[in-house]
Amino acid sequence: MRKVITYGTYDMLHQGHINLLRRAKELGDYLIVGVTSDSFDRERGKLNVRNNVLERVEAVKATGYADQIIIEDYVGQKIDDIQKYDVDVFAIGSDWEGKFDYLNEYCKVVYLPRTEGISSTMLREGSQEVYRIGVIGTGRIARRFVPESKVVSGIEVVSVLNPDSREAEAFKNTFGLNGSYQDFDAFIATVDAVYIASPHLTHYDYCKRSLLAGKHVLCEIPFVLSGDEARELYELAASRKLVLLEASKTAHCPGFMHLVTLVKSGIIGDVVDVKASLSKMVDPPTRELNKEEAGGCVTEHGPLTLMALIKLLGRDIQDFHFHSRMQDGVDIFTNGIINFPHATSSITLGIGVKTEGNLIVSGTKGYLYVPAPWWLTDYFEVRYEDQTKNKKYFYSYDGDGLRYEIQEFISMIVNNRLSSYRLRRRESIAIAEMIANYRNHINVTEI
Ligand code: CTP
Repeated sequence: MRKVITYGTYDMLHQGHINLLRRAKELGDYLIVGVTSDSFDRERGKLNVRNNVLERVEAVKATGYADQIIIEDYVGQKIDDIQKYDVDVFAIGSDWEGKFDYLNEYCKVVYLPRTEGISSTMLREGSQEVYRIGVIGTGRIARRFVPESKVVSGIEVVSVLNPDSREAEAFKNTFGLNGSYQDFDAFIATVDAVYIASPHLTHYDYCKRSLLAGKHVLCEIPFVLSGDEARELYELAASRKLVLLEASKTAHCPGFMHLVTLVKSGIIGDVVDVKASLSKMVDPPTRELNKEEAGGCVTEHGPLTLMALIKLLGRDIQDFHFHSRMQDGVDIFTNGIINFPHATSSITLGIGVKTEGNLIVSGTKGYLYVPAPWWLTDYFEVRYEDQTKNKKYFYSYDGDGLRYEIQEFISMIVNNRLSSYRLRRRESIAIAEMIANYRNHINVTEI
């Protein structure tokens, strides 16, 4: 029996796929089709896949050409599969001409003619409404947002709001947007959704006004500086069936999401301690060091570190205490101890004190170590007493990493999904509450 194998994503299955599968089947007696897993696609930067792996497998099955369907989940799997299933022919479309010649060592490689004029990318783009996004604020993160938005389909940044007309106009010209505005009402009329990247203390007001105007909101961290404000905004969004998402970059990056699922699945046993540190030195004058602009390391770095603690240990915080070194009314270094019913945790943050920036999750069977910068999570290790069991994990973290949260934001809008498992609304509220406790000087000691 002559066995043929082929691979693909097979998103929004189309005539090109069907032709390819038919031709592949004609090369032998038995056809194995490898369908990419959702996480594998995400890892290799394919962020816009519309159908999930089950739907894609069903679609391939429905063509009637596949004798066996397998899931492709890692780089290098093709070699393993060819040997494991004793494959004679590897077939793939001619758009890959030459790319799989290395497989000639294991079986015959055939490039089949590709069907012209159709692809999943074309179908996705043709079928999707493009949401117009307005950016509020023109600072560093806003400048990273626009290029990142270009790799996510279904979104176009069209306008910018900044009370300073020169700044707004310069931002518009740099990124080729349609309009720059100083007036909120004129701005909001031009968009379907907003990305809020303005100074911290303006977030609440801009979120509320945008939601009241019927627009979806992606809001930079720190989202808001009080649990009550966070709760009120999520309720407002839900009552209007609008998406409100905290732009917690790390919560959306593939490596961190996998870290959470690995820990939850028990690979290091019961989690007993989490230590998250984040330090980035800043030079004055800058808003991070300005008390009037809610500067300080808890407002700057609290959102990501607290997010990690809450994702890994839950929201049932029993007690907490912070120790801070202050300078001109802002904390330039803070160490916080936060205890949960069966676990301890700590955050160590600096903007005027340099320290390590790693994440350590300790459990009853082993621990997980993420070196600095853990918040990009492109690499981590799982370590055990028996070092031969240690494992290293690598992930891609493409571009500036904002594409992952943008993609989730659009997916929530398209699918009418008001909540994201990557960062639940109640988790986002818990983060805001903890930052508010700190800002209200509850259990804070100055050192
Ligand atoms: N294929 C083809 N003709 C097309 C499109 C795809 O023969 N018009 C083939 C590919 O060469 C590959 C298989 O179908 O062997 C699965 O490809 P996949 O990447 O899933 O499809 P695309 O439509 O190319 O997807 P995308 O636009 O997301 O890259």
